[in-house]
Amino acid sequence: MIPTVEWKEGVIRLLDQSQLPGHTELLECKDVEAVTSAIQGLKVRGAPAIGVTAAMGVALGAQSVFETDVPTFEQKVLAICDQLAATRPTAVNLFWAIARMKGVVRKNRDCPVSEIQARLVQEALAIQREDIVTCKAMGQKGAYLIKDGHNVLTHCNAGALATAGYGTALGVVRAASEQGKKVHVFVNETRPVLQGARLTAWELMEDGIPVTLITDSMAGAVMQQGKIDLCVVGADRIAANGDVANKIGTYAVAVLAKAHHIPFYVAAPSSTIDVSTPSGSAIPIEERPGHEVTTINGEAWIAPKGVAVFNPAFDVTPAEYITGIITERGLVTPDRIAETFKG
Ligand code: MRU
Repeated sequence: MIPTVEWKEGVIRLLDQSQLPGHTELLECKDVEAVTSAIQGLKVRGAPAIGVTAAMGVALGAQSVFETDVPTFEQKVLAICDQLAATRPTAVNLFWAIARMKGVVRKNRDCPVSEIQARLVQEALAIQREDIVTCKAMGQKGAYLIKDGHNVLTHCNAGALATAGYGTALGVVRAASEQGKKVHVFVNETRPVLQGARLTAWELMEDGIPVTLITDSMAGAVMQQGKIDLCVVGADRIAANGDVANKIGTYAVAVLAKAHHIPFYVAAPSSTIDVSTPSGSAIPIEERPGHEVTTINGEAWIAPKGVAVFNPAFDVTPAEYITGIITERGLVTPDRIAETFKG
């Protein structure tokens, strides 16, 4: 599979996810503005992938700061960090990755600027490498939850495309499939941006994992018909009390799962866990433009022009609906998130 995000000789190369599945186009970002607009325009999306891209964006921006004076260099890099941090508010991996990049500058203040620039690139590449390792570890730790012959329901895209590779929720599915289990995945299309239909269905088909696409409103009926053994989704931010922010519609899936006694799992790396946010009500929820709801791909209108639109990109699933959170350290119940991941 084509990598989601790559650092190529001082240029960030992204697989443009807004064009999938129709076109496999690579987008080259040569400055911070291009990275900022790629994140805002969902050309790269998914919490871990946003973090990796922002880290590379800091490294890219720092290379264009032609200053030999370290305090001035630091000030300019911090401004780049602020610009990237303002792209999307919900996925905490963005802020986590930027904090790591700021740490590199802080810890190397006694080095020449050229050395700090080189270390920023190394850190961004380390974040990318670690993300793949973490996803594979999550897959290994969570695969036992999926039994041979299971039908899994997922929402949005928490796959290789949403990470540096392998995926979180789909990483668990992938690991179970690699163990030789027969796994079939029902994918919610995920209105309004259709990450399920466009990305998850495509990614699973590319991997030869059986997949059936349904609209979001079909999930309840499919559960009622006994077709789902478990649900697994990703996360954009997990609060200290175990509440989970993820793609809009996740909450509805969790409530339906509970009503049908179906286990509901969240797969997320520790970089998605934010113990400084006490509960889901404190998680900032991004609101996106109305045209995502009123049109298909910004083109064909499916609503009357001028209609009022509310378009929150994420919702919060309260901890009580979550059976367990699969992390690279293993399965944790939501009530144990704060004690397991403090500090
Ligand atoms: O708006 P998006 O496409 O960035 O939203 C993505 C999701 O909500 C994913 O489920 C989440 O980031 C987990 S990705 C491993």
